[in-house]
Amino acid sequence: MILFKSRSSKVFFIAAIAFCFAFQSSIAFSKSVSRKASIAAMVEELLAKMTLDEKIGQMTLFTSHWANTGPTMDPKNLEQIRTGKCGAVFNAISAEYIRQLQNTAISETRLKIPLIFGHDVIHGHRTIFPIPLAESCSWDLNAIEQAARVAAIEASAQGINWTFAPMVDIARDPRWGRVSEGAGEDTYLGCLIAKARVKGFQGEDLTKPDTILACAKHFAAYGAAQAGRDYHTVDVSERTLFETYLPPFKACVDAGARTFMTSFNEIAGVPSTANRDLLTNILRGLWNFQGFIVTDYTSINELIPHGIAADEREAGKLSALAGVDMDMQGAVFMNHLAELVNSGEVSVKYIDNAVRRILTAKAELGLFDDPFRYCDVKREKEKLMCPRHLNSALEMAKKSLVLLKNEKNALPLKKSVKKIAVIGPLADSTADLLGNWHAVGLASEVVSIVDAIRKAVPVGVDIHYAKGCDVNGNNREGFRKAVETARKCDAVILILGENETMSGEAASRADIDLPGIQNELAEAVSKAKKPTIAVLINGRPLVLTRLQKSVDAILEAWFPGTMGGKAIADCVFGSYNPAGKLTMTFPAHLGQIPIHYNMKNTGRPMSDNKYTSKYLDAPNEPLYPFGYGLSYTKFSYSNISLDSAEMKMGGSINISADIANTGNYDGEEVVQLYVRDISGSVTRPVKELKGFKKVLIEKGKSKKVSFELKSEDLAFYGIDMSFAPEPGKFQVFVGGNSRDTLSADFALLP
Ligand code: GLC
Repeated sequence: MILFKSRSSKVFFIAAIAFCFAFQSSIAFSKSVSRKASIAAMVEELLAKMTLDEKIGQMTLFTSHWANTGPTMDPKNLEQIRTGKCGAVFNAISAEYIRQLQNTAISETRLKIPLIFGHDVIHGHRTIFPIPLAESCSWDLNAIEQAARVAAIEASAQGINWTFAPMVDIARDPRWGRVSEGAGEDTYLGCLIAKARVKGFQGEDLTKPDTILACAKHFAAYGAAQAGRDYHTVDVSERTLFETYLPPFKACVDAGARTFMTSFNEIAGVPSTANRDLLTNILRGLWNFQGFIVTDYTSINELIPHGIAADEREAGKLSALAGVDMDMQGAVFMNHLAELVNSGEVSVKYIDNAVRRILTAKAELGLFDDPFRYCDVKREKEKLMCPRHLNSALEMAKKSLVLLKNEKNALPLKKSVKKIAVIGPLADSTADLLGNWHAVGLASEVVSIVDAIRKAVPVGVDIHYAKGCDVNGNNREGFRKAVETARKCDAVILILGENETMSGEAASRADIDLPGIQNELAEAVSKAKKPTIAVLINGRPLVLTRLQKSVDAILEAWFPGTMGGKAIADCVFGSYNPAGKLTMTFPAHLGQIPIHYNMKNTGRPMSDNKYTSKYLDAPNEPLYPFGYGLSYTKFSYSNISLDSAEMKMGGSINISADIANTGNYDGEEVVQLYVRDISGSVTRPVKELKGFKKVLIEKGKSKKVSFELKSEDLAFYGIDMSFAPEPGKFQVFVGGNSRDTLSADFALLP
């Protein structure tokens, strides 16, 4: 411990520390500048040597087909690697196989340009985490970043240096199966989660062998597909595009994402893959994105059925002129780009810019320094499914759980319960717990929920299992055994939901109730009059209006990943108190869709008056709103207060509220801050999330939670599409969800 004899020596010490820090930062900064400069010089020198065919080869991405039994690369594609006509490969896995492919590129091509290897590492690589929608319900940005970090460590240990993630599509229609891959309906939260995921994948230094390129997808507005039907038409206003769908992509640019992927859909008549305004004017021009843009799978070819290209040649031209750099699996650039350049329809400058960006990304990964740096069999053996990663997955699976209903204190199960019935079509499933896009996760490495419960219970507690019925279909033969099992037990845990193919890509559902006859099973079992808990395994919000009438508790577990079974068991038996909050609204009725918390007030907001905006034949409120989630304890909110009722333009105000834990368990609560702009130059949502804090409050204690709200937080696209706050009256809300809140008023002064 240094004791300062005089004030001057203290000042000197602090100045010395500051100088060292500044010196180190300047060293780091100058190192990064010189690395950037040396990469740029190397890329220019290489570019100058390349033939047009070799350049176009760098713009071509093909899939390998990794089967768990072993790799296969289409011999045609292997030949294209040999001849330098393919610069990137995806779906190739394992350090050894990727070394083989990389060796082909390095030893058999003229310029020895290393390949880059991509894969859909969406929520874990071999250790599978809960699906991204589930992770978003943790509202824990550090845990979300850590999940992406673990995924990157495992994927890079198997030779992957580029993930096609994060998927940052805002989605408000749960009929769309790909809601499972995103972060829900809210743009503010979506931006924060997008940044966390990019940081997790790319880390602080891309030259490290355990960091991989992120890929912001699907650019853009794919989540607005009409009627929730995948690949369907998107037609949103410019204001909605900029206000709702683009910000998470901008957040990815700000976080340093090195690649973007175009979406399959059109936006107001122009498919994203041929959308120059989107790819060049906004992404590169307005946002100054420096990385490269890859298409989605054959999305250039799909410009033909979209109806804007007569043939592949025209499709290739349109996507090149729009600003696409790399063609995923379509072979359109490979087959037509040279001729388009020779005819003068596509400039060499465009080609050089695209190749420059791709080579730069490869150089940033360190692949030119050591093309085999990701092919380390030893690291592969050490990192995949290591205890630390499994523990991370377990913690995230717990944090993703959302308690939707808990009456008669059904949960947590009491120690007095000696016989437990575990019933349902997903109780003994392992593959379904992994969910869609589970990379190289293996069902054989997953413990089913019923087995996890068996492991969790103390000696003397019996578990009785009955399947009851299938996920889909109408075979009721299993009902009898299920009801008998419920009758002879003290409590019932139903494991219901979707199988993993029922959400994700190409998995839109027109009816999002529990599939098949699962509701009937729950109703039959409930007649045993035992405490009945439903645990849901699913990839999207479901309409639970019927189910919630026949069970005492509902725990939303999503597709919870490799450690999901244990997470559910820990929660059901009380060693973990759930704190998750919904990031997508659960409708009360299918017909309400699209429904989300931040809708507009309209000129006739719903009321008892007939002539107002509401349904005659269905509820008008959701069953479970955005931000909703219960705890085993109870939280009560009071004393919302503002340090000022007036905010100056460029200034801020502080909002606080007291939250008391009035229940019997310590618990975490996601305290949410919402704002309403009462009147603007355009209509404004009835609520907008502007902040949240996840706080642990011990039973019997209370905490004051404060937020700083700045005038720039109130900015929006006004009548002239300028992005700025407008003076006027505002309401501010604090609560544990978007519906049950305390409110107060303030004014933003000019
Ligand atoms: C798919 C998906 C995209 C994925 C790509 C590569 O069609 O739309 O999200 O990254 O193809 O698998």
